[in-house]
Amino acid sequence: MHHGRGGSTSAAVAPPGVNINVPHSARIYDYWLGGKDNFAVDRAVGQAMIQAIPGMRFMAAENRKFVHRAARDLVAKEGIRQFLDIGTGIPTRPNLHEVAQRIAPETRVAYVDNDPIVLVHARALMISSADGRSEYISADLRDPDSILNEPVFLQSLDLTRPVGLTLIGILMLLADDDDPWGNVAALREAMPSGSVLGITHPTADFAPDQVAEAVAAATGAGMTLVARTKDEVERFFGDWEMLEPGLVPVSAWRPDEPVTDPQAAYYWAGVARKP
Ligand SMILES: C[S@@+](CC[C@H](N)C(=O)[O-])C[C@H]1O[C@@H](n2cnc3c(N)ncnc32)[C@H](O)[C@@H]1O
Repeated sequence: MHHGRGGSTSAAVAPPGVNINVPHSARIYDYWLGGKDNFAVDRAVGQAMIQAIPGMRFMAAENRKFVHRAARDLVAKEGIRQFLDIGTGIPTRPNLHEVAQRIAPETRVAYVDNDPIVLVHARALMISSADGRSEYISADLRDPDSILNEPVFLQSLDLTRPVGLTLIGILMLLADDDDPWGNVAALREAMPSGSVLGITHPTADFAPDQVAEAVAAATGAGMTLVARTKDEVERFFGDWEMLEPGLVPVSAWRPDEPVTDPQAAYYWAGVARKP
C-alpha cells in the first residue's frame, strides 16, 4: 500500500482485492481527511472534486464531527448501547465505538463495509474497551440480508433491544437502480422499537453547480455518486420520528458551537427513532 502523498504507487503493495486503477470512495475520503491509505487514482479524483468544491475537505471533517456528536447523544441521551454502522470506511479516530464506549464502556458496535481496504484495517476497529465489543463484518448494503443473517452480527447485537443504525456518508454511493430506499426499509424493518437511524447524505440543494461538477468528476472516473434532495433523503427514514432538530445541514445538527454558515457543508443529516 502506498503511504504518503506524491510518491509512486505500486500494484505490488496493494492489499488483496484492492484495485488501484479505479478510484474508491473510502480512499478518496481518506485523502480528504489527510490519511495515507489512498492511491494516485484516488488523489486525482479527490483533487478534481476539491477543484469543483473548494470546501470539500471541510465537508468531510464536518461529516466526521456529526458522527461524534450523534454517537455521543445517542448513547448519553437516547440510551443506545449497540450500533450497526454500515459503510464504516477506513478507520478515522476517534471511531464510533471509541466515542460511544468512552461514555458507556459496555456499548457494542458492529461495523459493516464491503471494501477490501477497510477489511485490511478491521483489526484496528475491533480494539474495544474491556467491557464493550466491536466487530467487523464484510457485507453489502445492497443486500441487507447479507448483514442481518451474518452470524457475527447476530452474535454481537441483541435485536430485542434498541439499535443505533448509522448510514453515514454511504447512501450516495448507491444508484437509484440499487433501490437504496428499499434496502434501508429492510434494515428499518428488522430493528426493534426504540431503535434510531442516523444518516448523512451529500446534496446539490445548497450549491447545485459545484456539486454537479464534483459528481461529474467522480462518475467520469467510473464511480457511482448521487447527490440527493432533502425530500429524497427524508424518505430513507420512512415513518420513524425525526429527533430534534430534524433533517438539517450537517453542521447544524446539534452543533457544539454556533455555526455561522450552516450550508457551507453540502450534506443533509438527521436522526430518527422507530416508534
Ligand atoms: C465515504 S466512506 C464513509 C465513511 C464513514 N461512514 C464516515 O462517514 O466517516 C463510504 C464507505 O461506504 C462503503 N460502501 C460503499 N458502498 C457500500 C455497500 N454497498 N455496502 C457496504 N459498504 C459500502 C465504502 O467502502 C466506504 O468505506
